[in-house]
Amino acid sequence: MKAIVIYYSQSGNTEKIAQSVASGLGTKALKLADVNPETLKNYDLIVIGSPVHGGAPNRKVTEFISHMPEIPGKKGGAFCTKSLFGDKTTIAVIRKGLESKGMKFAGSYCAVGFSRFIGDFGPRIFHRGHPTKQELVKAEEFGRGLLQA
Ligand SMILES: Cc1cc2nc3c(=O)[nH]c(=O)nc-3n(C[C@H](O)[C@H](O)[C@H](O)COP(=O)(O)O)c2cc1C
Repeated sequence: MKAIVIYYSQSGNTEKIAQSVASGLGTKALKLADVNPETLKNYDLIVIGSPVHGGAPNRKVTEFISHMPEIPGKKGGAFCTKSLFGDKTTIAVIRKGLESKGMKFAGSYCAVGFSRFIGDFGPRIFHRGHPTKQELVKAEEFGRGLLQA
């Protein structure tokens, strides 16, 4: 199965998760900006990751999905990183976008990412050191699981 992991990341958290998901799939993680959506026809499994921004994926991610071609029957997956909440809505938006292209949704994963702003001024204990090693291992397992899903 030919798999691709595509991510958008501003401060590196989603990138770390993307690399672990890709490692579980035995492939590489590519930055959104480096991927031409048209080329996705060549893949059997497409996994897309975004930080949670205002309870939704970053706009670049939703725009990217809207530019993807119809690829009926191909498998899709999603992952995100967040500070506090908004992961379910974020995954739901990515899922809906992939399903609108005819894809079958195979699963999702979300981890906590350290946020400089909230980490410095808010409940720092919840965020420092995230994504943790354990979250990275779970991300890798998520990737591996998608191959069987
Ligand atoms: C503009 C902005 C909006 C955000 N909105 C949310 C949010 O709604 N919910 C949440 O839990 N975290 C929110 N965060 C925190 C990020 O989702 C979190 O730090 C994430 O891990 C960042 O990923 P990145 O390092 O890949 O950019 C927001 C961060 C930014 C910069």
